[in-house]
Amino acid sequence: MARKLLVTAALPYSNGPIHIGHLAGAYLPADIYVRHLRQLGHDVVFICGADEHGVAITIAAMQQGITPQQVVDKYYTLNRDSFAGLGILFDNFSRTSLPVHHKTAQDVFLTLHKKKKLAVHETTQLFCPQDAMFLSDRYVRGTCPVCGNPDAKGDQCEKCGSSLDPLTLKNPLCAMCGATPIIKPTTHWYLPLGEYQPQLEAWLAEKKDWKDNVRNYCNGWFKEGLRERAITRDLTWGVPVPLPEAKGKVLYVWFEAPIGYISATKEWAAKIGETDRWRDYWCNPACELVHFIGKDNIVFHAIFWPAMLMDMKGYILPTQIPANEFLNLEGRKLSTSQNFAVWLPDYLQRFPPDVLRYTLAANLPETKDTDFSWKQFQSCNNDELADILGNLVNRTLTFVQRHCAGCIPPAGTFNTADNAMLAEIETAGEEISGLLNTFKIRAATARMMDLARAANRYFDASQPWATRTSDLKRCKTSLHVCCQVLRSLAVFMHPFMPFSATTLWQMLGLEGHETDVRWVKAYRPGNIAGIKLGPLSILFRKFEDADIQPEVDALAAAIARIEQKERAQATPAAPPIPPALHPSSSPTPATPGAGRPIGIDDFNRVELRIAEIVAAEAVPKATKLLKLTVSLGTEQRTVVAGIAKQYTPEQLLGKKVVLVANLAPATLRGVQSQGMLLAANDGETLALLTLDRDMPTGSVVR
Ligand code: MF3
Ligand code: ZN
Repeated sequence: MARKLLVTAALPYSNGPIHIGHLAGAYLPADIYVRHLRQLGHDVVFICGADEHGVAITIAAMQQGITPQQVVDKYYTLNRDSFAGLGILFDNFSRTSLPVHHKTAQDVFLTLHKKKKLAVHETTQLFCPQDAMFLSDRYVRGTCPVCGNPDAKGDQCEKCGSSLDPLTLKNPLCAMCGATPIIKPTTHWYLPLGEYQPQLEAWLAEKKDWKDNVRNYCNGWFKEGLRERAITRDLTWGVPVPLPEAKGKVLYVWFEAPIGYISATKEWAAKIGETDRWRDYWCNPACELVHFIGKDNIVFHAIFWPAMLMDMKGYILPTQIPANEFLNLEGRKLSTSQNFAVWLPDYLQRFPPDVLRYTLAANLPETKDTDFSWKQFQSCNNDELADILGNLVNRTLTFVQRHCAGCIPPAGTFNTADNAMLAEIETAGEEISGLLNTFKIRAATARMMDLARAANRYFDASQPWATRTSDLKRCKTSLHVCCQVLRSLAVFMHPFMPFSATTLWQMLGLEGHETDVRWVKAYRPGNIAGIKLGPLSILFRKFEDADIQPEVDALAAAIARIEQKERAQATPAAPPIPPALHPSSSPTPATPGAGRPIGIDDFNRVELRIAEIVAAEAVPKATKLLKLTVSLGTEQRTVVAGIAKQYTPEQLLGKKVVLVANLAPATLRGVQSQGMLLAANDGETLALLTLDRDMPTGSVVR
């Protein structure tokens, strides 16, 4: 019987491009599942959209120096297009900044408010005195009170998955300026989750077919006891709270974003000209609601969101939440802020979409975190796609092309081996479908490839190259069977690799599209004898090491950068060398914190002293250099410093600065420099290090 399903994939924040972690967590499994449902003839709507509010957006805007609106516009288009490039085909990719969403979200808030479900409290909150604003959610960073991760976000710890209240963070800091926040009163509206706990527990207890990770997370929260959660924020970017007494407040992004699934369905219905169609799904008890998400979204989808829906009469609750664990990259956690990721738009410029789809599908983090590496990508492509699947296609079709006049030969009498091969098609089809239906997409991918393996064994055993001369009928029959496998494989491949499935279908010369064939129709042989093959091409081109090396190198460089930074944070910071001040003026600017960590003995070898500038003059024909005379109390030195752009000689007289006193002398523009001054230097501005309390010249600095 045809089922009706509304399938969603988590609305990605519009604050950056999509990377492989996003894809493996939610979007790819969702797309594979949806494509398969369609092949089974079910009625599916596949919904996604951009999550355009919240602090994730405003922080990105601040970092990129553009407005929040510019940020969301930029990434909306980029992400919509790169999803399409990978063949992730939503029925609608909406945005939460649309009026239909603002209205829908405000209506939900008002429904709960009118039902007197919401609590209102005056409370205290972290407030940054420097930035003059309340620090909600990600505007605060600090140490996670649950696991001790020193870099937890105010609303959530990414290490242990706990959802947090910024006030419970240890050592909270403003994420924008690093200042220590103060505590200030404000008023907010709350969803009293505790009151929903019995209902939620009873509801979840029924979900015996849900994945263990999701059930375990939820039971963990139930054990702790659910607490009320604020659903409003003191921010300007977001959906305004629709109450006159709530001026200047917006809805909490995790309150309104899931409502985006409803708004996006409304927008879809309007786009297809059937404005009310969204109710067919959302307000239809026969409709199954399936949310694909990553594990960091579990609490919001399995607890917070169902609680909201429970009070919206007539709406269905989630039927399934197949949450995935995380995908790591080359053995490390992906990091968007450290640019340690494989970004989808970059990928699509260099490699075919199906290879990534296959590699990820074969390694999805369904029950535990898994790892992606470029070597594994290369071997998935070369050893599986090219050597197994591609080889089967190629050897079969070139044989037909050469020896059967380019037409699929008719079958004679099937022998035991033929019948076993044909039976294997049906077994594979049933098993792949069973696995996909239970969200075991990784195993389904492997099962699909196993069918190609079995067909290669069949080809080898049938020896058509030998029977071509000894028994032509036999030869044609076995090639016919191989073509039957290819036809079925094109259908079975479709959810995983839609582009290659279509190419294979066309190479077989079959009419229409592989999606015209219902899944179960591909279990049985098709009417293909006599069909003329289409133009042949290589389905999967092998990747040389040289194709992969730039990607490997880019990630290795990123790892080196990250490790350097970690070392710099772990050891007392070695003073960066401002190149402009270095008398022997090295051509490459030194990176702060660059190089191997040094011990305290190494550091002690540098003699730093307070020096007073007693004379300063320009160096002829050198626009950047000044010749300084500095006093160490007991002696005077001549120092040539590259600070003429930033300081006039007059400004420098009498300044007490830090001199590297035991540097080997160097000659610049004919003047011998006997030391170097310390300065902060970001490549544009430059500031000499001075004292914040007077000290005698010659004082040791360490
Ligand atoms: N934007 C969120 C994230 O990337 C996901 C939002 S899912 C929704 O983690 F349900 F809230 F829409
Ligand atoms: Zn601040």
